[in-house]
Amino acid sequence: MVASRVQLIKAGREYKARCPFHNEKTASFWVSPDKQFYHCFGCGAHGTALRFLMEHDHMAFPEAVEELAGRLGLPVPHEGGGGAPRPQDASLFDLMARVTQFYAETLQRDERAKHYLTQRGLTAEILQRFAIGYAPDAWNTLLRRFGADEPDRRTLGELGLIIEREGAQVRHGERHYDRFRDRIMFPIRDSRGRAIAFGGRIIDRGEPKYLNSPQTALFHKGRELYGLYEARLARSSLKRLLVVEGYMDVVRLHQAGITYAVATLGTATTAEHLTRVFRLVAEVVFAFDGDRAGRGAAWRALQHALPEAREGREIRFLFLPEGHDPDTLVGTEGREAFEKRLDGALPLSEYLVRELSAQCDIVHADGRARFAEAARPFVHKVPEGVYRELLLARVAEVVGLAPQRLQALWAGGELPAPAPASVAPRAGRSVGRGSLVRQAIVRLVRFPATAGSVTDAERAGIDDCSEPGIDLLRALLDDLRERPLKISAQVLERWAARPGGEHLGSLLKREAVLEDELAAAVELRAVLVKLADSVQDRRLDALLAKQAATGELSETELTEFQRLMNIKAGRSR
Ligand code: CTP
Ligand code: MN
Repeated sequence: MVASRVQLIKAGREYKARCPFHNEKTASFWVSPDKQFYHCFGCGAHGTALRFLMEHDHMAFPEAVEELAGRLGLPVPHEGGGGAPRPQDASLFDLMARVTQFYAETLQRDERAKHYLTQRGLTAEILQRFAIGYAPDAWNTLLRRFGADEPDRRTLGELGLIIEREGAQVRHGERHYDRFRDRIMFPIRDSRGRAIAFGGRIIDRGEPKYLNSPQTALFHKGRELYGLYEARLARSSLKRLLVVEGYMDVVRLHQAGITYAVATLGTATTAEHLTRVFRLVAEVVFAFDGDRAGRGAAWRALQHALPEAREGREIRFLFLPEGHDPDTLVGTEGREAFEKRLDGALPLSEYLVRELSAQCDIVHADGRARFAEAARPFVHKVPEGVYRELLLARVAEVVGLAPQRLQALWAGGELPAPAPASVAPRAGRSVGRGSLVRQAIVRLVRFPATAGSVTDAERAGIDDCSEPGIDLLRALLDDLRERPLKISAQVLERWAARPGGEHLGSLLKREAVLEDELAAAVELRAVLVKLADSVQDRRLDALLAKQAATGELSETELTEFQRLMNIKAGRSR
């Protein structure tokens, strides 16, 4: 078993080899057929055949058992029945292997097909690694080559490689024709590398662009991931999987060195896909095209991902710029830039919050209440545990409630009351004392000298503010800093004829009486900082939205983002 994967040299009763688990020049990897055991004196890797398959081929335990049993000709009992390898499967696998080989050879002889793939940027090495081939432009190639015996002919049919003609269409005794004609052939392999189906792409233009094998005894569409076998082979330790949509995307990404890319096969991501993926790695990034279809696919993937979310697992979403797919993107910008995008992909929780809040207009309290309602079923799809607690906390933060309160409301089934303004995410208001702008103006008119305590940085902080009344606040503040006044009456007089000045007197009257000038100065400055903060929040939101929509931020935007995040982090501590 090991011998089929590592080149072994006989050494007495045992064998040695260069260790497949670490990089070495001399052989320190020993295999003992007697003891059914391997051991590396270099890196310490050791174990049984089972362990070897799990470590080397990254098989899950049941797969490894099946592989070994298969080699020994033993049936493996399966839960729920139905899954036990049927004896006739052997001939199906065998014929698939021969057809794959045939398509690969045909490609080598066909200049047009080869040229197409070269022009798509694929190298000879990658074509070989994925066993990519070409199905000739003829109606009965497979029958002629592989269909001489009746059993083989039946097998071709069972594999979906040939199609039976309707009665009237039968001509010259040819009852069948090839499903795949004049197409680039992508073999889909199972976890042991055996071809179980094909995807066939038209060369140049035509419909359908991709044609896939039907479901067969070997192939269940919603279960397989294209490129998974190759991904496991490429890496001695697979840590992350990147799930993309297309065949070409996978092949091109692998060629660029991103050998952890896999694709769902023209179907949405299923729960079964995810179960398989999380048996292998703890980190998954989904990449979707930036168009409508891509967004729809992402949203469906999210639904299936929620039940798999838990502590220690990382599920993230990457949206590519419109007009691009991973194939074109990695082709133009290369591996490093692409992996940078991956590193910046949106965590599941953020993606969820972003989508739901976009639907609910969370600026207003009733929108936040709707958001809370909308989020409930999603949060409840996550298994109980730390991850769910964190997601709940994140949703609660947006709603403006304590997580316990939100949970209680969900449990009770009543709509959350409008969030108290003091915990609203956007610090535009403060309880009972009017808007922040108004609080600042009142303090300035009541104690004009407080303007002198405002620093340049505090003043600059409200430059980008757009709250109602902000123009008046800025003008008043600038005026009083430049030409200081001592008492309210002077301010009212100077501003009587100026825009906004007519409001100042009544504002002052309606506000609670302020007596302490020192306190007013402190409060004024605090209000200015709060206003600046809300500007930063909005700017952060805008940057996040841009990153989410386009998948990229410029270098300066990234720096700004970092700076704003640091400020926020510092403030909430
Ligand atoms: N697909 C399919 N059947 C189709 C169209 C698409 O099964 N008729 C699946 C294929 O797996 C395909 C994936 O959906 O790879 C994405 O389709 P699409 O974006 O249209 O193609 P690309 O992968 O971009 O293919 P290419 O770059 O070769 O045009
Ligand atoms: Mn493409």
